[in-house]
Parts: sequence; C-alpha cells; structure tokens
Amino acid sequence: MKKTLYTFAALAMFAVAGTAHAAGNTIEQPAPPAGGWQHDGIFGTFDKVAAQRGLQVYREVCATCHGLKFVSFRTLSDLGFSEAEIKAIAKEYTFMAEPDDEGEVLERTGLPFDYFPSPYANEKAAAAMNNGAAPPDLSLMTKARVGGPDYLYSLLTAYRDPTEADLAALAAANIELGDTTYFNPIMGGNQLAMAPPLDDGLVEYAEGQPEATLEQMAHDVTVFLTWAAEPKMEERKEMGRNVMAFLVIFCGIMFFAYRRIAKRILGH
Ligand code: HEC
Repeated sequence: MKKTLYTFAALAMFAVAGTAHAAGNTIEQPAPPAGGWQHDGIFGTFDKVAAQRGLQVYREVCATCHGLKFVSFRTLSDLGFSEAEIKAIAKEYTFMAEPDDEGEVLERTGLPFDYFPSPYANEKAAAAMNNGAAPPDLSLMTKARVGGPDYLYSLLTAYRDPTEADLAALAAANIELGDTTYFNPIMGGNQLAMAPPLDDGLVEYAEGQPEATLEQMAHDVTVFLTWAAEPKMEERKEMGRNVMAFLVIFCGIMFFAYRRIAKRILGH
C-alpha cells in the first residue's frame, strides 16, 4: 500500500513538472551578450563604467515603472560616483517627510541614505496602471530568475513579432497571446505585460561612451542590476580566492608535517 502511495506521489510530481515545462514553452534559451560578462568567473569584477551607463538607463527608462527598494543612493559610491553626484541623483526623487509639529506630512527631496523608490503609491496602483501586471522591484531580479544576468539581457533584447513557427508552437502549447501582452521568446509563457522598454538611441550616452544601441543599453542596465543584486560580489570572490589559497598552502604544510612524523614513527 505504502509503495503504491509513493509511486503515485512520484508520478504526480512528474506530471506537475511536465505541465510546468509545457506552460513555459520557452522557444529560446537566455544567452550572454557577444563579449560575455566582465563579472563572470572567480576573477570577475564589475565593469563600473558600464554599470554607470546602466544606472542612466535605469533612471531614464526603467524607473518610470520599476523601483529598486534595496538599493540606497549612497551605495552608488561603489560604482565611482562622488558624494556630490549621489546627492544630485537622490534629489531627483521625492519622499514623505516625518510629520511636522502640526502632524502634517510634507514631501521632501531624497537624501543619500534613501533607497530608489517605486514610482507607484502601492502594488495595486502599479497593477492598475499596467494592465493588471505590477512591474516587479528590480533590486534582486538577476538573482530571482534562472539564468540571472543572461536572462535579463536576453529578455530585453529578444522582443520581436512572433513568426508563423512561434504561433504554431504557442497553439500547440495551448497558449494564446493576449491583447495587452507582448510576445517575447525568453519569457515563460512567451509573453509579458511589459512593452519593449528599449530601442536604439533611446538614451544619450556621454561623449566617449559607446553608441546607445538596444544591445548596449541592455548590457549596461544588466551590469548595473547585477551589481544592485550583489554589491559585495567582488569582496565575496576575493574572500573565496583567499580561502582557496589558504587551503592549498595549509594542505601543503599538513602534507610535509605528515611526512616528517611518518618518517620518525614508521621510518619511511
Ligand atoms: C512602462 C512601464 C515599464 C517600463 C518602462 C519598464 N518595465 Fe519592466 N515591467 C513592466 C511590467 C508591467 C512588468 C510585469 C510584466 C508581467 O508580469 O507580465 C515588467 C516586468 C519586468 C521584468 C520581470 C520579467 C519576469 O521575468 O517576470 C524585468 C526583469 C523588467 N521588467 C525589467 C525592466 C528593465 C531593465 C527596464 C528598463 C530598461 C524596464 N523593465 C522598463 C513595466 C515596465
């Protein structure tokens, strides 16, 4: 009896996993940009200049709909922004001040210790203004999705009109494209409520910077959001490297200690 129950449970789990896969119907797999990511690998560091451009893309494009509630303005110093620059960025946002002596709550401009706010008053307002799908906070987005930075980059660059083959695949998976959603082969279910947010030349980069093509902006904003999700990545990698170096050296010392003791006790 117990055995049948286990078999049944296992079958049910397979069935659920199977349908979840079918509902995803992902046609394309996330892939990194052509040059890869500078932050990959155990020696990877953030491309700070790209992250600065990415912040510009976030502020000028994504911030219209998405907040970054775990990122404070002052942490931008990690990316090489000066105190004055950080104050200027914070000032662009408004916050509710503490109640004054009359109990009135007034607005104040942002200060370095504030966090990038959501542009909406609350989740319901966010959903109501976006055809029912609230734009998620982007602070941890590169950690929250399978594929991480590759997923984000691919999502932003993969928007296109569905081909006949795409439509056939969608029909086979019983998925209908909605009137207020956009086809995107990276997204599970192949559609999302976010209109393609980027377009060639949408943002004007400072002189000496690469041209603001769609791919370049997607790359830059992804580097910025990867940093936002794990600002201490470089320290973590350095710590990891130091621990590994310590273990290698320690292993060597232990080996020689063992040899000496073995020689004394066993004579070889
Ligand atoms: C006009 C509003 C708007 C703008 C501008 C916008 N988004 Fe979105 N975004 C949305 C909405 C709405 C959703 C929710 C989509 C859904 O769940 O169907 C979303 C979802 C997302 C998601 C989650 C996708 C997933 O896997 O669930 C990411 C990542 C994202 N946006 C990144 C960005 C980035 C990066 C930018 C700037 C380049 C940006 N968005 C600009 C409205 C916007």
